Amino acid sequence: MKVLVATDKPFAPVAVEGIRKETEAAGNELVLLEKYTEKAQLLEAVADVDALIVRSDKVDAEVIEAAKQLKIVVRAGAGYDNIDLAAATAHGVVAENTPGQNSNAVAELIFGLLIYANRAFFSGKAGTELKGKKLGILSYGNIARHVARIAKGFGMEVYAYSRKQDFVKEGVQPVGSAKELFEKCDIISLHTPATPETKKSINYDLLENIKKGAVIVNTARKEIIDEEGLLRLMAERTDIKYLTDITPDAVDAFTALEGRYYATPKKMGAQTQEANINAGIAAAEQITAFFTTGDTTFKVN
Ligand code: 3PG
Repeated sequence: MKVLVATDKPFAPVAVEGIRKETEAAGNELVLLEKYTEKAQLLEAVADVDALIVRSDKVDAEVIEAAKQLKIVVRAGAGYDNIDLAAATAHGVVAENTPGQNSNAVAELIFGLLIYANRAFFSGKAGTELKGKKLGILSYGNIARHVARIAKGFGMEVYAYSRKQDFVKEGVQPVGSAKELFEKCDIISLHTPATPETKKSINYDLLENIKKGAVIVNTARKEIIDEEGLLRLMAERTDIKYLTDITPDAVDAFTALEGRYYATPKKMGAQTQEANINAGIAAAEQITAFFTTGDTTFKVN
């Protein structure tokens, strides 16, 4: 079997080595397409592969259609909104993700962003501390669990609003609505996956009564933000900050909000050696399991 790793944003070399080792030990061939600039390169590379490993790379209907031999695509990561699941299903392709494997990396970056912003972007001006602050988590999954653990280490009070309430046993306090979370908390970390239902769900109505001086951190997806609504709020409320590792569509308007907005130059929450190794090797192992035993534990379509 031929396994393609197609990553516009490459894994750390040590992770690629691990993926190669796992793939070749299973008797399969590994091919690499990294830092490609044109979709045509991806379309050509997928033509004769049986399995595909990607990160945020777009696997749309055209890619699925071009991959005539494809049996399985694994998104080495959590969010699989980059894969056209209907097209995969229509072509008999199994789609999987590797939940939890890169979560700690994203959680750690959140605190990096928070300390940077709360210490006046390292300008030397007096900043604020995390200790004693209320942290609100919107949607409680694998990353949120790590965020809550780290926040407790900083001495923060942790609250969450999520469809599943399984966080209470982890010492995280529930609130009654997403709106209440924004009203109550000093820092709100967004962890909502991008789906048709959640698109632009972080809107003006939800944020209207946000707590004075609150900081919103988005390491989830830009699609969940109603950028117009957030910009309107930030124009009216000069006390609000927005931090993210995903470049917004209205990047110029956000950049103009000097001292209240920061985005990393590239999406980098999951960009650590550890996360690359964990997610990349998990993807390779899931492919081996699929070809050897038909295992589809992590199937999402
Ligand atoms: C994920 O969904 O796993 C994260 O957003 C990481 O995405 P990346 O693999 O493109 O860094």
